[in-house]
Amino acid sequence: MINPHGGKLIDRVVSEKKREKILREYKELPQLKISNETIEDINNISHGVFSPLKGFMGEEDIDSIIKNDRLANNLPWTIPITLNVSKKVADQYSKGEEIAVINGEQKIIAILHLEEKFPYKKKEVAESVFQTLDMEHPGVTNVMNSQDILLSGEVDLINTDIKRFKEYTFYPKETRKIFKEKKWKTVVGFQTRNVPHLGHEYVQKAALTLVDGLFVNPIIGKKKKDDFLDPVILGSYNILLENYYPKEKATMGILRTRMRYGGPKEAIFHSIMRKNFGCSHFIVGRDHAGVGDFYGPFDAHGIFEKFDDLEIQPICFRSFYICEKCSGVVSDNVCPHDGTEYQKFISGKKIRTMIMNKELDNLGEYMRPEVAQYLIEQKDLFVK
Ligand code: ADX
Repeated sequence: MINPHGGKLIDRVVSEKKREKILREYKELPQLKISNETIEDINNISHGVFSPLKGFMGEEDIDSIIKNDRLANNLPWTIPITLNVSKKVADQYSKGEEIAVINGEQKIIAILHLEEKFPYKKKEVAESVFQTLDMEHPGVTNVMNSQDILLSGEVDLINTDIKRFKEYTFYPKETRKIFKEKKWKTVVGFQTRNVPHLGHEYVQKAALTLVDGLFVNPIIGKKKKDDFLDPVILGSYNILLENYYPKEKATMGILRTRMRYGGPKEAIFHSIMRKNFGCSHFIVGRDHAGVGDFYGPFDAHGIFEKFDDLEIQPICFRSFYICEKCSGVVSDNVCPHDGTEYQKFISGKKIRTMIMNKELDNLGEYMRPEVAQYLIEQKDLFVK
């Protein structure tokens, strides 16, 4: 099986003995209240999803990402993992200190070993990750509106604090075990933030013809307005997998993190996380992790050429669409009717409108009828 990024799966979950000691003593420590997104980051660091990171990034790593799309040790990495606080909050802590990190219910999540406090170079980070400073870009707004100071340092996880979707949550140690038990030597990871249409299904199945197993790995976490709600994504994938996928060749687990909408840079980040899950290959299709017209449809293919040391192999696909002349779902690699009256482009926007208008027959052209039926029955579909 493929090695984790950096060679070793990071495990920052404390032993039971240490946990008990911390639970007895943490009230003496300075405390820091964090958001749900930061809790997710801590879980991902501690369970190896972000290997080789052992904590929140320091200034050297962030500068190196801005300049080279690599960590200071030269490993590919494109999106900073940061702990942002206001100056007033940062002033409460001293370097070298242990901080008890707590959630909104005063429960301890982790210990942060504070190494550095430094200003967040928001503009440089936004420009490097999103390649724009346009405030219409949701990722840019998010970075520009975040707090000014970054805290860095290793973390030790005390409580995972997962409330929703436990049954779909597998961390790299577990997915690697699952793939091994299934005797999959090669596994392709599929990233998604959407309900599945035929284009998604075809890229997955085309990739699955080349490898032993498919890991459908939807991102569950904060998304932008009008994206599909997490339970709806999972509900529709359950139906698709149950009815149309060979059980011994496909499985699903979630990735608990937020979408950044960083297009090509996020495609690299996405592939690194899937490498840590144990995937040897990763699907990159049309406008991967894109938003609006900020990126070209295949920008996320070209960026992989910059990283010959990633180890996980991208499997890049051009747009899949429906061709009435070819009578099926095709891509312009295999169909000569691209751009003609026979071509029916599969667009998320079009599908969203059909779902809202309950156009079951039309929807059935773009997605499996069972999935379409499920979607039009849902009351709540979109992020508000
Ligand atoms: S994403 O933000 O997670 O990339 P989405 O869930 O729609 O959005 O896409 C998941 C994956 O499927 C991405 O790799 C994307 O490029 C690919 N994809 C989506 N639609 C198509 C399509 N019609 N043809 C080819 N690839 C596609």
